[in-house]
Amino acid sequence: MTTTRAVHARSLVDPDAFWAEQARRIDWQTPCEQVLDYSRPPFARWFVGGRTNLCHNAVDRHLAKRAEQPALVHVSTETDQRRSYSYRELHAEVNRMAAVLLALGVRQGDRVLIYMPMIPEAVFAMLACTRIGAVHSVVFGGFASVSLAARIDDARPRVVVSADAGSRGGKVVPYKPLLDEALRLAQNPPEKVLLVDRGLAPMERTPGRDEDYLAWRERVGGTQVPCEWLESSAPSYILYTSGTTGKPKGVQRDTGGYAVALATSMEYIFCGKPGDTMFCTSDIGWVVGHSYIVYGPLLAGMTTVLYEGTPVRPDAGILWQLVEQYRVNVMFSAPTAIRVLKKQDPAWLTRYDLSSLRMLFLAGEPLDEPTASWIQSAIGKPVVDNYWQTETGWPIIALQHGIEALPAKLGSPGLPVYGYDVRIVDEQTGAECAPGQKGVVAIEGPLPPGCMSTVWGDDERFVKTYWSGFPDRQRYSTFDWGVRDEDGYLFILGRTDDVLNVAGHRLGTREIEESIASHPAVAEVAVVGIADPLKGQVALAVCILRDAGRAATPQDRMALEGEIMQTVDRQLGAVARPSRVVFVGALPKTRSGKLLRRAIQAVAEGRDPGDLTTIEDPSALAQFREALQG
Ligand code: PRX
Repeated sequence: MTTTRAVHARSLVDPDAFWAEQARRIDWQTPCEQVLDYSRPPFARWFVGGRTNLCHNAVDRHLAKRAEQPALVHVSTETDQRRSYSYRELHAEVNRMAAVLLALGVRQGDRVLIYMPMIPEAVFAMLACTRIGAVHSVVFGGFASVSLAARIDDARPRVVVSADAGSRGGKVVPYKPLLDEALRLAQNPPEKVLLVDRGLAPMERTPGRDEDYLAWRERVGGTQVPCEWLESSAPSYILYTSGTTGKPKGVQRDTGGYAVALATSMEYIFCGKPGDTMFCTSDIGWVVGHSYIVYGPLLAGMTTVLYEGTPVRPDAGILWQLVEQYRVNVMFSAPTAIRVLKKQDPAWLTRYDLSSLRMLFLAGEPLDEPTASWIQSAIGKPVVDNYWQTETGWPIIALQHGIEALPAKLGSPGLPVYGYDVRIVDEQTGAECAPGQKGVVAIEGPLPPGCMSTVWGDDERFVKTYWSGFPDRQRYSTFDWGVRDEDGYLFILGRTDDVLNVAGHRLGTREIEESIASHPAVAEVAVVGIADPLKGQVALAVCILRDAGRAATPQDRMALEGEIMQTVDRQLGAVARPSRVVFVGALPKTRSGKLLRRAIQAVAEGRDPGDLTTIEDPSALAQFREALQG
């Protein structure tokens, strides 16, 4: 019998043989000459010389055997619409979208920015890009103009694909005004904007720039657009993610390595078979959506469910109703969604037939023990926690039920996944930590196939940010704390940097601080993440005002707090809005001027702030405590 540990060991001892075998899961127009080129660490090139295409493998390849099987099922409880596309229909729609993009001047290597709600056209656009070798950059629809403009300027897309509006919790969220504002702010706006009009919100159109997708779709008719065979390491997409600086990083993904890694994970981790149905509740704007709404299930010949809506509308049974209706076999969600359900009537969980469901996968933030055991006993299915990042594109730590059914340990995502040489190391020395000893979760190079190849347009930033954190040698840092137990199970203990995780959304404190600092009343601001029972973390903003008089009365403070929240909503989007804004006369800092984030966090969470010997002004913390209570 194969064991998880044996597969893992083999993948590290003989990566060439291991990955050459996995590469057979996908179609190659030209097979590779070399499995791995690691001559220029930390840049790894997988399947060198091989030529393939993600869209071919996700769509065209299945036409022979499963043309009439549903490929994409769209459910919107926001607009009350359901649409299903077979592989044959998906192929036709992707061809049309590809033909439109070509007609608008998009060529191989060009970027296309996709700013879309959860509608089928968003998936068509992603697949159309990979079909013609264009590089897509999907920006989460919950982000607003300033975030969007920063991404436009970094990716420099030839075309932006967008829509009139999204909808959340029954409320229409117009996208076009946010996009127009972003295009006004951008230094390098694209020539063309392709718009899907859902009829949800009026759109102002700029003649010569804004194009109507439906009109174009008619015009291109049934044009067939061949797949562009790309060298394995050609970029497939850029996905921006937050770090410590205000400038988002474009995580660049390759083509062949990603296809192989996802196809392998579908079997070994997610136990998904061709013909199965997968329902992933994430958003296409996040990495989980890229990998497990779009590419992973389609590469595996599965049916994927694209859901626009929340877990509690029209009622708290909706997710399970969809499981019953579409006979979902594999479900993927986030701990936050489950914590939301925990507050509802538990009867919703037993109302529907869940017999098709094999497992529930959860990722994106720490899965607390009470939530894990609650959902596991409520639905009577194994719950599989898995730990990874935008940077890696697929799980780093998980139990791999497709290899071996190992028991879970509550609070742990499990064991290192094949391909990842995971180490827990001492931050100061780089030495490996003993079991039970906390350290940084690091990965020895090379990263396996499918992980980020570089930071878009900035190789140096890739090396400096991710590979220079330890004094002894070059090693990838996840920026997470972790600990290993005697059995090799890993536990994740939170970020080592200033990245927030709000309801599974990864946000940079710097970006939020910059947005708040743009409010004319604010002189200085610190944003910290504090523990929240529902969202995991929420952002708390601590501000010093230019004129303290502006926050003299409780009414003043409330009004200003509202204004500041609106500023963040308008610039970054409601996802980044701090849950509270408090006003102080001084921020707790060290004598050298470094913000004491941990102390602010501790006080806000009602914990002991710890060692304060370096604090410049001890009264600052007392002031902060008072402001919190006020
Ligand atoms: O801090 C870890 C946390 O989310 C970060 C990555 O977020 P993102 O780039 O949005 O990718 C999410 C992909 C699932 C990690 O650095 N994180 C993610 N999964 C877990 C987790 N923390 C604890 N347990 C997890 N299962």
